[in-house]
Amino acid sequence: SVALGPFLSKTGLTTFDGGFVNTAACKSDITYIDGDAGILRYRGIPIDQLAGKSTFIEVSYLLIYGELPNATELEAFTNKIRRHTLLHEDLKRFFDGFPRNAHPMPVVSSAANALSAYYPDSLDPKDPEQVELSTIRMLAKLPTIAAYAYKKSVGQPFLYPDNSLSLVENFLRLTFGFPAEPYEVNPEIAKALDMLFILHADHEQNCSTSTVRLVGSSQANLFTSVSAGINALWGPLHGGANQAVLEMLEEIQASGGDTAAFMRKVKNKEDGVKLMGFGHRVYKNYDPRAAIVKQTADQILTSLGVQDPLLDIAKGLEEVALSDDYFVERRLYPNVDFYTGVIYRAMGFPTRMFTVLFALGRLPGWIAHWREMHADPATKIGRPRQLYTGYTERDYVPMEDR
Ligand code: ACO
Repeated sequence: SVALGPFLSKTGLTTFDGGFVNTAACKSDITYIDGDAGILRYRGIPIDQLAGKSTFIEVSYLLIYGELPNATELEAFTNKIRRHTLLHEDLKRFFDGFPRNAHPMPVVSSAANALSAYYPDSLDPKDPEQVELSTIRMLAKLPTIAAYAYKKSVGQPFLYPDNSLSLVENFLRLTFGFPAEPYEVNPEIAKALDMLFILHADHEQNCSTSTVRLVGSSQANLFTSVSAGINALWGPLHGGANQAVLEMLEEIQASGGDTAAFMRKVKNKEDGVKLMGFGHRVYKNYDPRAAIVKQTADQILTSLGVQDPLLDIAKGLEEVALSDDYFVERRLYPNVDFYTGVIYRAMGFPTRMFTVLFALGRLPGWIAHWREMHADPATKIGRPRQLYTGYTERDYVPMEDR
């Protein structure tokens, strides 16, 4: 038998913290969260100010370089990204290798990883010029990759980027436009999507960002590290929750809209059913992003003239949860994903693209953390310890004696 508990080794005291509930893996200057107070700030600036006044490209700059850009810096940054939105023609054929009904997340993460193969001149994390080039390439090409994954899934032709458009407008056109037809970007949709990307842009050491840091700590390049982050994001307990929420709402609707019956199942933990889009490891108060998303859902659906019964079901679930002992005692509130799906659906995105949208939003955060880690000379390769619970020692048994 092996003792379970803290143990001393040559490197010091080792403690067990499953799920890293209380263990900091790094120091960071990027994002501040006070989960009890429901506070989120990027580089010190409150999320509601950024959501109300900034743009996704400006927030990307802020997260990556640490300060808001002045007009010249913002223009230079925007233009650099514009110049890199194209994908290598050979990389475009990569999408043909996937089945048409593939979920877009593995397609996007594979193509993001493949950037390492196509752009070998920007792989060295120790070379500042290469780091800068990979940063720009990653920011510019992921929206193109995401749109192509969608086009592939619906069997439509790929478009070339139109670099007179903003990053979000370009993404909308690449996703919903057709090659020989003019595409009018709906400014309301572009603005709302830009704002949702701001809300998703960073959230300190969440599962996908920690993955990007851990993979990058082996000195793996930015493209590969981000690809790993995209995979981590896909899980339904993390970014995949936005798809899971919408599927949950559809299921409730299909079963006659009986929210009370669904909530009973959740509280009885029947078949592991959870109220998706609720709860958070860090927020034990209302997620400040969820409050903004909820307000946006009402505005955007009204201005698009969409009446979605799923929004009413979601609001009904929240109302029940906020006054129910099960949720109150556990301090479970809506998280950022609870209302986003209803908005994405009103914008015309299929449910399976929701987590891809999250990845596009989270990208500058992943890049900022990867760069912060590499800029710190004290960074070591990430290598957690374990508490070994297996056999202490036993003899090999020959096949004939087993
Ligand atoms: N529905 C029902 N019960 C829940 C929920 C939920 N959504 N979330 C947590 N609980 C319960 C747990 O069952 C547990 O109950 P217990 O004390 O009786 O065992 C208690 O609340 C504490 O929950 P934990 O699972 O210990 O919390 P943890 O911090 O490990 O998990 C997580 C956080 C994964 C977000 C969880 O709340 C969850 O699964 N939520 C649903 C999925 C989701 O929305 N994920 C998106 C998170 S935000 C993001 O990544 C962008």
